[in-house]
Amino acid sequence: MSRKLLIEHAEVPGITSFETYRKHGGYASVEKALKTMSPEEVVEEVKKSGLRGRGGAGFPTGMKWSFLAKPEGVERHLVCNADESEPGTFKDRYLMEKLPHLLIEGMITSSYALGARRSYIYIRGEFMYVLRILEKAIAEAYANGMLGKNILGSGYDLDLVVTPGGGAYICGEETALLESLEGKRGNPRMKPPFPAVKGLWGNPTVVNNVESIAAVVPIVNEGGEAYAKIGIERSTGTKLISASGNLVRPGVYEIELGLSVEEFIYGDNYCRGVANGKKLKACIPGGSSVPILPHYLVTKTAAGTDRLMTYESLADGGFASGSMLGSGGFIVFDEDQCIVRNTWNFARFYAHESCGQCSPCREGTGWMEKVL
Ligand SMILES: Cc1cc2nc3c(=O)[nH]c(=O)nc-3n(C[C@H](O)[C@H](O)[C@H](O)COP(=O)(O)O)c2cc1C
Repeated sequence: MSRKLLIEHAEVPGITSFETYRKHGGYASVEKALKTMSPEEVVEEVKKSGLRGRGGAGFPTGMKWSFLAKPEGVERHLVCNADESEPGTFKDRYLMEKLPHLLIEGMITSSYALGARRSYIYIRGEFMYVLRILEKAIAEAYANGMLGKNILGSGYDLDLVVTPGGGAYICGEETALLESLEGKRGNPRMKPPFPAVKGLWGNPTVVNNVESIAAVVPIVNEGGEAYAKIGIERSTGTKLISASGNLVRPGVYEIELGLSVEEFIYGDNYCRGVANGKKLKACIPGGSSVPILPHYLVTKTAAGTDRLMTYESLADGGFASGSMLGSGGFIVFDEDQCIVRNTWNFARFYAHESCGQCSPCREGTGWMEKVL
């Protein structure tokens, strides 16, 4: 069974309270970073960890952080992308609902590393009840000196703001998110300039997914090198997977990257196979915007090697016979499912959610829906 670095304490009664979270070792990374490390040292540990963004694209987090422009006298921001609107993905919601203080801890440690003094959590508008959980936890963090002025006597100040999203899928795209956070319609910006140079309110900004920010906590606690030893090759650490569809035991799992897809679907510690004794027809491993794998490519690649839960192995074969780890939204279809109908359902979603800014998507998604 995979080691749990993020959600080990998720089911502990009362873990959403500051006191219980603290009793279980919470906020240790804030103490360690603010009292014993420079911001640059924290960035270095994240680089060493090999952590790749958990929002979908898998971009190395440490590298993204090192691109952040640092002009004198200009504010910088960390923005947490908690919009989670990709069909089949629900791991960020689970993490925030169960362990709000883990995200807050990650926000503090990461903001310190980036020199941000006002950071934001942009949370999907439909997650209003989770926003309330976060607001309560943020208030507790302020009351206990983890947020606000002179955190733990370190001289570092941080304000953390949680704000509801605009209610559109496109608001999860980082530049549309920044527009929406500034109070405008959530349309993507032209790039360059990238947010690291010109982001929120025109200031240098890092946008990271909830899970990426939470992963900074074990990285700082245990060290980047120790984290990099978990997983395999360029897929280091653990990953939250939202498993849904025709499975015996769907749900959110924290897996060690490198686990075989076969073990994940059929293993006793994971999904325990296809529901009702049916055969597997297909699987979408990374959320509805990644390619679908037919049954013969789910557990094996086209070359006949074992398909693993890694960025590389799931992409093996490109778009012809591979897919993507994406956001970890793992959707399983049994033999009775109609793939055309399911694809039409996804196409309908993308047509409805197109922001209309670019013609290929505005026109194309509508046609895909009609054709299907
Ligand atoms: C249409 C679209 C929707 C997206 N939705 C999300 C989302 O809901 N959550 C998320 O973290 N990233 C989403 N992303 C990716 C973000 O643009 C960005 O890459 C990510 O937040 C960076 O965080 P990471 O490096 O920690 O993964 C989306 C991207 C696109 C193009």
